[in-house]
Amino acid sequence: MDLALFPNEPMPNELHPFIELRSADRHFPSTPGDIFVMVKSMRMDLNYQASKYILSMFKPIANGIQDIQGYKYLDDRDLIDFVDGTENPKNIERAKAVIIDSEPYIGGSYLIVQQYIDKQEKWDSLTTEYQEGVIERTKMDDIEIADDKKKPYAHNVKSKVEIDGGEIKMLRQNRPFGNAMEHGTMFIGFAKTANVMETSLKQMIEPGEKGHHDKLLDFVTAKTGTLYFVPPQSFLDEMSS
Ligand code: HEM
Repeated sequence: MDLALFPNEPMPNELHPFIELRSADRHFPSTPGDIFVMVKSMRMDLNYQASKYILSMFKPIANGIQDIQGYKYLDDRDLIDFVDGTENPKNIERAKAVIIDSEPYIGGSYLIVQQYIDKQEKWDSLTTEYQEGVIERTKMDDIEIADDKKKPYAHNVKSKVEIDGGEIKMLRQNRPFGNAMEHGTMFIGFAKTANVMETSLKQMIEPGEKGHHDKLLDFVTAKTGTLYFVPPQSFLDEMSS
């Protein structure tokens, strides 16, 4: 049975099921999920406790589907050992990239969450030089390679969204998760239009005009994919009053 939590409120313009994508042997599945809660603190035990209470609070209206404990790894690296998040917009540019600035949901945002499992052995069998070509940043000190030297299949070439030569940013709060046997990255991306992230995903998975998909996808497998709407704080305040 479909249950709308806010049946009398307008639907956010771009809220729809995550768009499944396939190209050759690459797949971005679309998986169910209505409510996403991200609990962040410096203490995993408190995160667990908060999550336990939040889950029981939602019990009357929702079943838990997945609880992933992410963590900070070394100096903000993902588990393929590269620093992740460096090119995120900062300060006012961050707000401009993420926060919806038009009615009816000024202050809201869109969120895409995907769980990726690393193909660690395959990744580890590459030389550092090759890995750096996949990301097009240096591994040790996280320096971006010059644009004219980047490989056309590099992750930071294929994921970057440009319109008329101008870059359209998103905010990524990726979190590593898992253990030595199975692990990967939770891609957690926010933007003021879902379209920015959808365009990025399409560019990554499809070969495009130049015939190259994002090489990073040869070393990770997407297991889930869900699009959410993040309501503005004012909306949540109103609901709770
Ligand atoms: C396994 C999943 C992923 C991993 C391990 C990963 C890792 C990285 C790393 C290491 C960087 C370079 C450092 C940085 O600027 O943050 C990066 C950049 C970036 N990634 Fe990802 N990423 C993943 C998935 C995605 C997905 C699904 C998207 C888009 C929907 C995406 C979009 C971006 C963007 C836009 C950049 C910045 C490009 C630039 O302006 O240089 N990433 N990612």
